[in-house]
Amino acid sequence: MSKARHVAIIMDGNGRWAKKRHLPRAVGHQRGVEAVREVVRAARRMGLEALTLYAFSTENWRRPEEEVSALMGLLKRYIIADLEEFIANNVRLKIIGNYKSLSADIVDLLEDALAKTAHNDGTTLVVALNYGSQDEIARAAAQAAAKGEVTIESIGAELDTAGLPPLDLLIRTSGEVRLSNFLLWQAAYAEMLFVETLWPDFTPAHLEAALAEFAGRERRYGGR
Ligand code: IPE
Ligand code: IPE
Ligand code: MG
Repeated sequence: MSKARHVAIIMDGNGRWAKKRHLPRAVGHQRGVEAVREVVRAARRMGLEALTLYAFSTENWRRPEEEVSALMGLLKRYIIADLEEFIANNVRLKIIGNYKSLSADIVDLLEDALAKTAHNDGTTLVVALNYGSQDEIARAAAQAAAKGEVTIESIGAELDTAGLPPLDLLIRTSGEVRLSNFLLWQAAYAEMLFVETLWPDFTPAHLEAALAEFAGRERRYGGR
């Protein structure tokens, strides 16, 4: 039995959740934020060291502008609404991905939140924003090469996730069984869990069940 330190989630299925109810996709995303809020609270209560959430991929720019701006608006409102709670609960915020190319108001908001939570040492909430794993690996390899040494360790040290505990468990909701360019390097020996639940329906109880499933898995890392 082992306790997961770092869990990552591909939060998928907001659109299908809305479609089933004949609601606009934006409502699905809104309900998705509610699920995020509760799952982040639960991760903190359960003592996870890091929770990484896939919020927006480098490929999500292919969606209609209206949906992209709805997602960015929700992200903004979530950080504004919950920043005080992160501070009060010792949650450290970390962003992975190219967030600096987002709009200036979002960059400012994120940098303020990063600065205000930087000294916290409870759960790290890692938000993957404008994140693509291939992009991350390419940037890290280039950095490592510029410093003169390309090894597994030197690339790892330049990844956006440097400093986080190793990824233990990767969950994807909504029944899709693929990684969609998320944490390809970090998932080398992570356990995977694909659940049918659509993201807006995902609750702290689902997270608890996932951690229980993880605790029962035998990890071998290629040994025997
Ligand atoms: C996940 O839900 C949210 C993001 C990708 C930002 P989707 O919007 O992908 O929902 P489906 O997959 O269309 O149901
Ligand atoms: C992955 O979901 C990205 C996020 C959850 C942010 P997508 O819905 O974008 O993935 P695909 O397109 O189905 O692979
Ligand atoms: Mg999807």
